[in-house]
Amino acid sequence: MFRFLTAGESHGPCLTMVVEGLPAGMRVDKTIIDADLRRRQGGYGRGGRMKIEKDAVRFLSGVRHGKTLGSPITMQIENLDWVNWQERMSAEPVEATIEAVTRVRPGHADFSGAMKYGHSDLRNVIERSSSRETASRVAVGALCRQLLAQFDITIHSHVLSIVEVGYEKQRAMTHDAYPVEMWDAVEASPMRCADAELTERMIARIVQAKHAGDTCGGVFEVVAFGVPIGLGSFSQWDRRLSTRLAMAMMSIPSVKAMEIGAGFTASRTPGSQVHDVLRHDADGRWFHLTNNAGGIEGGITNGEPIVVRVGVKPIPTLAHPLPSIDLASGENVDESRYERSDVCVVPAAGVVGEAMMAIVLTEAMLEKFGGDSLEEMMRHRGRQ
Ligand SMILES: Cc1cc2nc3c(=O)[nH]c(=O)nc-3n(C[C@H](O)[C@H](O)[C@H](O)COP(=O)(O)O)c2cc1C
Repeated sequence: MFRFLTAGESHGPCLTMVVEGLPAGMRVDKTIIDADLRRRQGGYGRGGRMKIEKDAVRFLSGVRHGKTLGSPITMQIENLDWVNWQERMSAEPVEATIEAVTRVRPGHADFSGAMKYGHSDLRNVIERSSSRETASRVAVGALCRQLLAQFDITIHSHVLSIVEVGYEKQRAMTHDAYPVEMWDAVEASPMRCADAELTERMIARIVQAKHAGDTCGGVFEVVAFGVPIGLGSFSQWDRRLSTRLAMAMMSIPSVKAMEIGAGFTASRTPGSQVHDVLRHDADGRWFHLTNNAGGIEGGITNGEPIVVRVGVKPIPTLAHPLPSIDLASGENVDESRYERSDVCVVPAAGVVGEAMMAIVLTEAMLEKFGGDSLEEMMRHRGRQ
């Protein structure tokens, strides 16, 4: 069984991940994980924190001489900002009076978290609800990617829109619609968008929001290629791959919407223009003429690219804060609190989306072709 846990506060000493169930004998390259961590730190619109952190993993268990042992893998990412927070985040009681954070930010976990856990200092909520936690998931996802690569499965993400600026039409979703050069352009774009002109317009939109003390959301797309037919099942609701992908994408902080394939567009289009016609090619292989199903029919992969689009809300911390309440005084206040923050995180959220896709596909691949070692798994998949 594949599972993982993450732990760590945003300004604590480190983030820790424990991953169990990856097969033994799988080559692990730390530089691939660190590269994904760097991709999560990027994207136009990030705030000051990302200039402080230089995320990199350290292995504490489960890997020896560059290969997995089959035992639990523990990874750690140091929080370089911790040096500035040692007293405020000390695990031991401190003598100094630490000022409590009491002004709630609308749209963040501040209010619901304080009510749920009975905290009067919002710092106790912010530290774990912060999306610093998503660095842990990117590290776990980068491990999973390395297993998936053994089976020629690759995963990419790109940004489709920022607020109202984006592609005008629904893009095609067949394999040919995503040429390899497109992903090179995505990686070179500060917006993780293959279209250079759109990139410029998206940046201008973020600059406009920043000047107004505001923030921006948008939509990113995650695509997985080379996924075998038959992952997931319709036999129970929670075994559908669509269910599991929705849960994974919706778990990303600030995500408020998710669609598979043509998604909401399909709901406004007649069936004759939505369903993907099956064909045989000259070599007797099956393929679909279109991919409006986004690679999943009946909760099962159908051999086409898996395509999901994810809607990210504008982040809650505003330089021109909204009116709110003060938990300590119980008064309405004209302004909630501002602390150093991002303006737009859609490109970074896309990288987290890739990690979540990798995690879901790893779990599904292990269920179908599982083995205690990579060799055994490859035998089950029918490849040596
Ligand atoms: C990569 C990433 C970075 C984020 N950075 C910030 C930030 O700097 N400030 C902020 O207020 N929210 C930020 N968020 C969003 C909050 O974490 C999120 O809105 C909050 O945890 C509440 O969760 P919810 O939006 O899912 O309800 C970020 C989200 C992601 C995915």
